[in-house]
Amino acid sequence: MKFFVDTAEIEPIRELAATGLLDGVTTNPSLIAKSGRDFMEVTREICEIVDGPVSAEVVALDHATMMKEAEILRKIADNVCIKVPLTVDGLKTCKALTGEGTMVNVTLCFSANQALLAAKAGASFISPFVGRHDDNGFDGMDLIEDIRLIYDNYDFATEILVASVRHTMHVLQAAKIGADVMTAPPKVIHDLFKHVLTEKGIEGFMADWAKTGQSIL
Ligand code: G3P
Repeated sequence: MKFFVDTAEIEPIRELAATGLLDGVTTNPSLIAKSGRDFMEVTREICEIVDGPVSAEVVALDHATMMKEAEILRKIADNVCIKVPLTVDGLKTCKALTGEGTMVNVTLCFSANQALLAAKAGASFISPFVGRHDDNGFDGMDLIEDIRLIYDNYDFATEILVASVRHTMHVLQAAKIGADVMTAPPKVIHDLFKHVLTEKGIEGFMADWAKTGQSIL
């Protein structure tokens, strides 16, 4: 499973990229607002840090203006992935852009039928929001299972990008279902490394090693 980080903050992206485990970045208008940075400038900076796809979202709601915005955004770098909302205009834009060889991430997906439409529109990624689904009394992971089944039934190449990930169990469940990608805030990715027994084990080994009086270097 590929790991994307869901943020527009440069330092956490640098830190995770340095682990060698980061495959891409997702941003959205809310994350750009939270960063306080200029959209174009921060997107360019992120694209220089990470080789994989960097999602940058259009803010227009009509197809013609989405295409104009996408034209500007995709010039930022070769690894920009244009993010469009799951609407009729968003999917028209998706179809046009992927037809020209531009990566597209279709966002704000809350049903398997929406995911089916996005795949038919040639989306590179579909972003079902599991956390927001859970918040509204549904099971976000049921949605991922349904999309996996449908995409496998028809051999769609669209990658399932599990988004709105709130905790490590979402990551585990997404991996068990066979999602292609997950995007999570930096804290959730850092939490994946942690286990109390790993920390306890290191403590014990360090204490015993100190008793030997030896050193490797
Ligand atoms: O990737 C989508 C994400 O940014 C939304 O997450 O936590 O605002 O639902 P959240």
